Amino acid sequence: MATIGIRRLSNGLGAEITGVDLRQPVDDSTFAAVEKAWHDHLVLLFRGQDITPDQHIAFSRRLGELDQHGSNPRYRLDDYPEILQITNLKVGGKPSDTRNTGRNWHSDLSYTRHPAKGSLLNCRQKPDVGGDTMFTNMYMAYETLSERMKAILEDLWAVHDVSLVAGIGERDPEKTAEMKRLSPPVAHPVVRVHPDTGRKALFVSQRVRSFVGMTEAESRPILDFLCDHATSHEFVYRHQWQVHDLLMWDNRCTMHLALADFDQSQPRHMLRTTLLGEPIGRLYNEAQAA
Ligand code: SIN
Repeated sequence: MATIGIRRLSNGLGAEITGVDLRQPVDDSTFAAVEKAWHDHLVLLFRGQDITPDQHIAFSRRLGELDQHGSNPRYRLDDYPEILQITNLKVGGKPSDTRNTGRNWHSDLSYTRHPAKGSLLNCRQKPDVGGDTMFTNMYMAYETLSERMKAILEDLWAVHDVSLVAGIGERDPEKTAEMKRLSPPVAHPVVRVHPDTGRKALFVSQRVRSFVGMTEAESRPILDFLCDHATSHEFVYRHQWQVHDLLMWDNRCTMHLALADFDQSQPRHMLRTTLLGEPIGRLYNEAQAA
């Protein structure tokens, strides 16, 4: 068994793991230590991982089944549907719609009935400065609410809507229409119990339109409060990428935001695998009727 090192990255969440080389198979006891660190710290950083797509996929599969990125087929890596290119390099000779992925606080694929369990992002190219990603701890966001607010949220469901993905209006209209067709609005519980840790986390984001049973006008102030509260500085880690970093995050108890704080004429090229989550959502009309 390799001895792993764990160094915390912020008070809110995140830890750097040392002593793991993802170009090699990871033995079971090392993997168990990594998984425990993931549950404890929510976001893990592995530096210096110059891995191939096969190695990226092999490690990701240890954590669960992988999404095939069917809603974004143009940006799958050739021959590797499990790998999504988040890139400002041209894809198929055209500007990439994924160059502005993640520009509002979100949890991956929350606008589907199977919100992602986790994501593993490997940095291949980066601008000389910026292109950072921020993460926030949604357990802390929940635990620091008043007991009265927790009671109000306990039975609420939130409507997650792909139309609220930042910048979706600037994407190829045909592809956007397809994304909306594939992902009609879906409702998820606002308070989510993590299936592995048993802890409660807030599950809202800037991709939520309203609460089930409430109007948008009634929902908006509460949603704005929850998002502001959840992204308080003390819950947040800001990652400054290095080439070959691999970050893995747990979408069930974090949100993240990819910052546009860089010169877009410089390449930023990232490869992501996405772990399929358990089906917790209901189509909005179905939830509304309940
Ligand atoms: C994402 O998965 O939302 C993109 C994160 C990033 O590109 O930093």
